Amino acid sequence: MNTIEAILNRRSIRKYTDKPVDKEVILQLLKAGMYAPTARNSCAWQFVVIQKREILDHLSQLHPYGKMLNQAPLAIVVCGDRNIDKEEGYLTINCAAATQNILLAAHELGLGSVWLGLYPRTDRMKDISEFLQLPDHLMPVSLISIGYSAEQRPFPERFELGKIIWK
Ligand SMILES: Cc1cc2nc3c(=O)[nH]c(=O)nc-3n(C[C@H](O)[C@H](O)[C@H](O)COP(=O)(O)O)c2cc1C
Repeated sequence: MNTIEAILNRRSIRKYTDKPVDKEVILQLLKAGMYAPTARNSCAWQFVVIQKREILDHLSQLHPYGKMLNQAPLAIVVCGDRNIDKEEGYLTINCAAATQNILLAAHELGLGSVWLGLYPRTDRMKDISEFLQLPDHLMPVSLISIGYSAEQRPFPERFELGKIIWK
């Protein structure tokens, strides 16, 4: 799969088989995340890897649109690290880039995934931080639900010439 194919064919996947994700594969996902660009090359992030069934089940209740986590064998919380960069805007953008890298790597590795928004919903960020007992300097930006896909999703056309301003 080349990069353009991966970008165009990735879809959010919310149904999974019960096949677990091997540690080697998880490390590849994390590596993809850590190769995302960051402002000032800060790499101001931490990744929380969740595989425990009881934690995934609780997260599925905690996140208002995260029900699929009760099937997922894996979740990753992408967090900005305020000890490294104080600017919330940069932390958020960096983590968004890492999140997209993880979604694309998951697709390439035959997994399905979906980005579950945390930032800028302060209530969700607080709930996740408290439940996972994250230290104060970590700002959870996204929660990614991951597993082997048990659904097929169509690829709608999204390219719109009308969204382009040529100068
Ligand atoms: C910031 C952000 C927050 C999102 N939050 C959720 C969510 O809470 N639950 C969910 O099922 N999907 C969530 N999504 C996934 C979007 O619904 C999905 O990307 C969009 O419908 C386009 O579909 P696609 O990913 O299959 O291309 C989120 C995506 C982004 C970028």
